Amino acid sequence: MKKPLLTALLFTLCSAPAVAKSAFSDAKDSVTYRQSAFQLIRHNMADIGDMLKGEVQYDAARLNKRATALATLTTLPWEAFTVPGAEQAGGDAKAEIWQNLQDFNSRGEKLAADAMALKTAADSGEQAEIRKAFGTFARNCKACHDNYKN
Ligand code: HEC
Repeated sequence: MKKPLLTALLFTLCSAPAVAKSAFSDAKDSVTYRQSAFQLIRHNMADIGDMLKGEVQYDAARLNKRATALATLTTLPWEAFTVPGAEQAGGDAKAEIWQNLQDFNSRGEKLAADAMALKTAADSGEQAEIRKAFGTFARNCKACHDNYKN
């Protein structure tokens, strides 16, 4: 990198506000963020499901990649439910979320923990373990949606 460019870059970084801002420009932005995370969760989960059903050729490396992605992706949506104004920002989130935030968040944490267990099973390469972990993981989705998603 040329020096003037570096200087300009440093200047830009340093002139950013000293107060840490949120990752979201506003509450609407947080809705986009969490919906995007859920979409990625859906894609990665579906591919594993297809492999386990035999609709897609079983590929241990590909399954491991999906499980690794899920272990991170499932930690993402939850913070986007608590930014100021999130309750009124639209999306398919039900008002019940904010009346039962502890229950909602603990369901989120369970999803992430079950994704981690799925990743561990994927690492083991034992198909029976993977199936079991996938079933446990997948049960979280509908259970939460029934209560908290329109
Ligand atoms: C703790 C609760 C919870 C769990 C667990 C959960 N979801 Fe959701 N999901 C929601 C809520 C709430 C919304 C609505 C978000 C919004 O519109 O802002 C949603 C929305 C979605 C959407 C629609 C996103 C969009 O583009 O509008 C998809 C797809 C989705 N979830 C997939 C899944 C899958 C797959 C799982 C399980 C692996 C899962 N969810 C687990 C609460 C949950």
